Amino acid sequence: MKLKSVSIGRLTTKNNVFVAPLAGFSDFAFRNVCYTLGAGLCFTEMVSVKGLIYKSRGTEDLLETTSAEYIKAAQLFGDDPDIFVAAAKMKALENFDIVDLNFGCPVPKVFNNGEGSAMLARPELAEKIVSELVKSGKTVTAKFRMGIEKGDNVAVEFGKRLAGAGASMLTLHARYKTDYYSGEPDYETCLKLKNAVCVPVIFNGGIFSSADADAAMERSGADGVMLARGALRSPWLICDILGVPTPDKGELIKKHFDMICERRGESNACRYFRKQMALYLKNVSGAKKLKEKIFAATTREDYHAVIDEAFPSEDRR
Ligand SMILES: Cc1cc2nc3c(=O)[nH]c(=O)nc-3n(C[C@H](O)[C@H](O)[C@H](O)COP(=O)(O)O)c2cc1C
Repeated sequence: MKLKSVSIGRLTTKNNVFVAPLAGFSDFAFRNVCYTLGAGLCFTEMVSVKGLIYKSRGTEDLLETTSAEYIKAAQLFGDDPDIFVAAAKMKALENFDIVDLNFGCPVPKVFNNGEGSAMLARPELAEKIVSELVKSGKTVTAKFRMGIEKGDNVAVEFGKRLAGAGASMLTLHARYKTDYYSGEPDYETCLKLKNAVCVPVIFNGGIFSSADADAAMERSGADGVMLARGALRSPWLICDILGVPTPDKGELIKKHFDMICERRGESNACRYFRKQMALYLKNVSGAKKLKEKIFAATTREDYHAVIDEAFPSEDRR
């Protein structure tokens, strides 16, 4: 795909290969891995503004960062402009350059609260959240879906409102809320959005290979792509798309795990990393046995041994 930098308000990214907010996964270590592989921009997982304000346990941990993050982008969700503004003033968000708004989450707990993708049906409120946050001095971006369900495509109108209110970039997850994560994304709608607004538009949905990224860029007219599940399973997809060599996968995964060990301690890290490890092992032969070993692993050495077995380095092969 055509690589280029993206201007987001006063900020400029190194390239246009971005990595999505991913609840339960895109923590400081995952973002460190993705930035180290060359990603242009990565986001924290979605963080509840109410959780931040009321200091819910664990909420601030989601905003941990590392020095690899040359641009720091936090994704927030909620539905009350005043709470967003109060959250934006908090110390926890002080270091973040970008506040990204989640207007796409389909999960019932969020949707039934009027948040996430439910905001697609509350455009005036979404617009107000953007304009109030912009006034508070933050660079604001938004990620949203095409609409709640098929036949109710609000993407262009919604995007125009957000851009008009001061959003500096829009990411379209080109599916409906009711699609969850399945089905062919709608490139055409992204193209219409791109032609309707003056801010950068990023395409998200179904990119699992560099050929997918090429097709998405060509068909959607977008300024860049955002990888989600593709990067979760294979963050080295970033290198494929950028056309740079992939580092040794085993060494990369061990580094990823070690960062978690350092912050959480070995025994917690062994449990915490299981779900990420299951994704890394998804396309590896003998995955079932290897996953069993991971579930039994209780030390850093145990983990490293399984990673070495699953991803033997060129030197050791
Ligand atoms: C495990 C998981 C967690 C997700 N968490 C978030 C999130 O916190 N914020 C968000 O905007 N989207 C979230 N998403 C949606 C992704 O960012 C992305 O929009 C979606 O997966 C479509 O891209 P893909 O088809 O390339 O996976 C999540 C998706 C998955 C699979």
